[in-house]
Amino acid sequence: MEFKKDPISPNLLLKLRKSLLSWFQKNKRNLPFRLNKNAYRIWVSEIMLQQTRVAAMLPIYETFLARFPNPSALQSASEDEVMKYWKGLGYYSRARNLKKGASLLVEKFAGEFPEKYEDALSIPGVGSYTASAVLSIAYGKPYAVLDGNVKRVLSRLFLIEQDPGLNSTNQLLGNLAQEFLTPESPGDHNEAMMELGALVCVPIPLCGSCPLAEHCEAKIAGREREIPVSKSVDNWIDLDLNFLFLKSKERLLLLKYPGRRFFKTIYSLPFRMEGKHPYETDPIVESLFDESKLNIHSNRVRHSITNHRIQLRFSERSEEDRTLIERTFSKNEDILFKWVREEDLKEEFPSSIAGKLIKLKNKTIKQPELPAGKI
Ligand code: ADE
Repeated sequence: MEFKKDPISPNLLLKLRKSLLSWFQKNKRNLPFRLNKNAYRIWVSEIMLQQTRVAAMLPIYETFLARFPNPSALQSASEDEVMKYWKGLGYYSRARNLKKGASLLVEKFAGEFPEKYEDALSIPGVGSYTASAVLSIAYGKPYAVLDGNVKRVLSRLFLIEQDPGLNSTNQLLGNLAQEFLTPESPGDHNEAMMELGALVCVPIPLCGSCPLAEHCEAKIAGREREIPVSKSVDNWIDLDLNFLFLKSKERLLLLKYPGRRFFKTIYSLPFRMEGKHPYETDPIVESLFDESKLNIHSNRVRHSITNHRIQLRFSERSEEDRTLIERTFSKNEDILFKWVREEDLKEEFPSSIAGKLIKLKNKTIKQPELPAGKI
C-alpha cells in the first residue's frame, strides 16, 4: 500500500481552507452547542455526539443542560438522576464519565474545562477526539479532530486508498487533518469538516454541493463512491434476552451491578441470555428465573445494542416474600436492587428497552401469543 506523505502545496492549502470555511459560514446548522463557546456545554455536546446523531441528541441536550448548567450542578447530582436525564442516548458509561469529569473540573480545574491538551486527556471519557474538539472550538487551540466524517472527507479529498481499519491509515489521516487545519480558526475548521462530512460528503456523496469538489482527488478520479474503501465484516452477535417482571407487593424488582454484560451502570429488570451465545451465564439472575415459578412469554421484539442483534422477550413471576428474593444478593455488595412501581418503570430503567418491553407486555396480554420463534 502506498503511503501518502507529500506535503499539500501552500497555494492549494489556502484555497481549500478558504472554500471550506466560507461554505461553513453559509451552510452550518443552527445548533444549540454553537450558540456560545462555553467549554462545558461543548464538552457535553461532544460526548453526546460520540455515539448519537445530532437530531436524536438535541432534545436531550437541552433538558440535560437546563438541569445541569455547569460542572458543579452535575457533580452534586446523584448518579441515578444523571442517568435519567441521559435516557434515550444509550451507552451510559458516557454519562458516568461526564459526572466524574465534572467532579474533576470542580476539584482540580476551578470549575472550568482545562485549556491544556494533557489536562483535557486526564478527564474520564475524554480521548484525543474530544480533547481536540473542545479545545479547538472553545479555546481556539490548534488541534485537528478526526472522527468518522472527517476521515471520509480527507480520504476522498486526498484519495487515500488504504484500509481505514488500519492504525497506519489513522495516523496518516491524523497527520493530514493537522496539516490541513486552518491555524487562525481551528474550531470553525474542525466543525466545518465534521459538517461537510455530515451534510455533503456523505457515504453516497453530494459532490454537486461540495465546496472542495474541484480539488477532490477521488472525485477527479471518478472514484468518490468507492473511497473510503470498506472492509465490511459481519461482526454481529445474535442474542436472545429474557427480561423478568418479578413482582412483589405491587412493585417490580430492579437490579444494578457492574459484573454483567449490559446495563452495568443503570438499574434494569433482571435479564438472562438464552439460546446460543458467546457469553458466560450470570449466576445472579439464574436463581430468579426459577422455571417452576415463571410465566414465560414467547412474543418477541427486536433491539440492538452496539454489535448485538437482540430479540427481547419477557417472563413474569410473583413472589410475596421479598426476603426470599433479596437474600440472593444481600451478601454481595456489588449488587444494588430496588422495588419500583410498574408505572415508573421507564423512569427507573432508563433504556428504550423498558418502553419496548411494556409495549410487548401490553400486546401479549391483550392478544394471544404468536407461535414461538416468530416475531
Ligand atoms: N459531530 C460532533 N461534533 C460536531 C460538531 N461540533 N459539529 C458538527 N458535527 C459534529
